[in-house]
Amino acid sequence: MNKTLQKNLDYKKFVVDSKLQYFKPHAGKIEKTFAEEISFSLNRKSKFISPKFFYDKKGSDLFETICTLPEYYPTRTEIQILKNLQNDLPSFIDESFRLVELGSGASVKTRLILDVFTKLQSNTEYFPIDISEILTESSEQLLQDYNSLHITGIIDTYEGGLEFLKNYDDKKNLILFLGSSFGNFSPVNGKNFLEKINSTMKSGDLFLIGLDLVKDSKILESAYNDSQGITAKFNLNVLSRINDELDADFDLNNFSHHSIYNKEDQRIEMYLKSLVNQSVIISKSNLSLNLEKNELIHTEYSHKYTLDQIKILLESVGFKIEHVWLDDQTHFSLTLVSKN
Ligand code: AVJ
Repeated sequence: MNKTLQKNLDYKKFVVDSKLQYFKPHAGKIEKTFAEEISFSLNRKSKFISPKFFYDKKGSDLFETICTLPEYYPTRTEIQILKNLQNDLPSFIDESFRLVELGSGASVKTRLILDVFTKLQSNTEYFPIDISEILTESSEQLLQDYNSLHITGIIDTYEGGLEFLKNYDDKKNLILFLGSSFGNFSPVNGKNFLEKINSTMKSGDLFLIGLDLVKDSKILESAYNDSQGITAKFNLNVLSRINDELDADFDLNNFSHHSIYNKEDQRIEMYLKSLVNQSVIISKSNLSLNLEKNELIHTEYSHKYTLDQIKILLESVGFKIEHVWLDDQTHFSLTLVSKN
């Protein structure tokens, strides 16, 4: 049995019609990981919840709302840059490329790239990879708007999606990783992840990464502590998700959203703060959790970069930088690299 077929055994394939199919890991895989990971990450002195668990349906919707907030500059800035990039992209791709996207979410920004692909190609293949079922909804939307599009969605983690893609076929891939989602990784994990992407790529493949840049702390802090409290809801929602899916009894009134910019480590740090001494039971993780008043549960890092750091980082894992696009205020960056 060849590698691809063997890999696909881990997934259940859903064929919706000739233009849409998606792959989902066999039931149990995600849920088991969730219960186990939570049991590990909350059953220790410095407690944390991985940010990948933010994105249930409600969390994904809240994140889409965050993207429209006046304080949250990354989305509109990246869209601005993507509009400029549209003119330049045709010189890097041709008929033989497919579009792959890590963390495709609602696939809103993707449209700006799909505009270029569909103009250039008679048939365009798009492989969105997302941990959230939001993928199926957004794919159906896209198919209504792009006639020549064929979608293969992979509902899995980034790592799962990359494994799926590796050795899939000989077609060239442009892999998108937008929105500075990479900023969630610690520097060490981030570098490992880039190495993983690099080793998934064939020579001739391209990788486009959107990264948020270091800037005034006030701008950063208000982007992660918006006046309408949507970011707070987004952060707290992960506790509701644990309540629902892991049979827990978090009282959301006993927690608050806390985020600060750590200048030295160049990152926004997001936490859930326990407002009282309390204990919480998480049945499916076999955990009875004691939290002290003011104790913090870490939920997210969002790293910010300088242009020099981006160049050094990408080159250190063996990428060749093809082009860097920026906005007028140098708030955000998009970097296109190829495999050396
Ligand atoms: C999706 C990880 C890019 O870090 O800016 C937004 C998530 N968290 N507001 C970010 C997020 C709080 C977002 N990323």
